[in-house]
Amino acid sequence: MKTVLITGSSSGYGLETARHFLARGWTVIATMRTPREGLLPASDRVRLLPLDVTVPESIKAAIEAAGPIDVLVNNAGIGVVGAFEATPMSHVRKVFETNTLGVMAMTQAVIPQMRARRSGVIVNVTSSVTLASMPLAAACTASKQAIEGFTGSLAHELGAFDVRVRLVEPGYAPTTRFTANIDIPVTDLIPEAYADFAQPIFADFANPPLTTKESDVAGAVWLAVNDASDRLRYPAGPDAVALAQVA
Ligand SMILES: NC(=O)c1ccc[n+]([C@@H]2O[C@H](COP(=O)([O-])OP(=O)(O)OC[C@H]3O[C@@H](n4cnc5c(N)ncnc54)[C@H](OP(=O)(O)O)[C@@H]3O)[C@@H](O)[C@H]2O)c1
Repeated sequence: MKTVLITGSSSGYGLETARHFLARGWTVIATMRTPREGLLPASDRVRLLPLDVTVPESIKAAIEAAGPIDVLVNNAGIGVVGAFEATPMSHVRKVFETNTLGVMAMTQAVIPQMRARRSGVIVNVTSSVTLASMPLAAACTASKQAIEGFTGSLAHELGAFDVRVRLVEPGYAPTTRFTANIDIPVTDLIPEAYADFAQPIFADFANPPLTTKESDVAGAVWLAVNDASDRLRYPAGPDAVALAQVA
């Protein structure tokens, strides 16, 4: 029986990915900043562990408590939408602490056991913002692009130990808590000078022609984990797939 550890399993793509692996017979270590019972079906193959990917002691405790894992899914992430000029650097740092350094720290924490066993998969969830540049998303895009480069390079050195490293690039899902979880209201990050520029962009955001479902991302993570090829990137959701085709 295989074991997957997923970060940010309390909602959205992470929760659906946990359900997907559980339904296929895996042991799921669902990590959350504040563990909550009842989100996943009751099963002796589910373990809830507290984990904040920005806190080194939390990472150490979670990895020790987890024991051997076959797959790490670095899904936890936060967003920021708005004019970069108006985005406080404290928030830019928070985005990077979670989306970029949190992914790196988790990855570093699991490499020793995977390298020693000469097996394992690490899936880093980025975003379709890495496939085409989108307006008013500069800081979030930067945090995710860093992981695209990081993962591509890391795949070489860990490939030497039969450990696979993958990218799943989800499109936009209005149904997850991602937008609600943005700490700073978008309106605070659109100064008056940007209003005319931002208005049609937000009108488009409100009516996207294609969107991503949680199940699209869970399916892409499943594929990324079980695909024995050396493919690196898995766009997830019809909007992301469309962007990847022209990227
Ligand atoms: N939804 C979209 O449109 C979209 C598009 C492209 C990419 N993505 C990416 O997909 C991933 C999942 O997002 P989602 O849409 O499913 O959003 P979500 O519903 O807000 O889920 C994000 C998860 O990350 C967790 N998290 C945030 N900060 C954390 C930290 N410091 N340590 C551990 N966990 C933390 C949250 O946990 P708490 O319950 O503790 O807050 C939550 O479970 C993210 O990496 C996001 O960047 C989303």
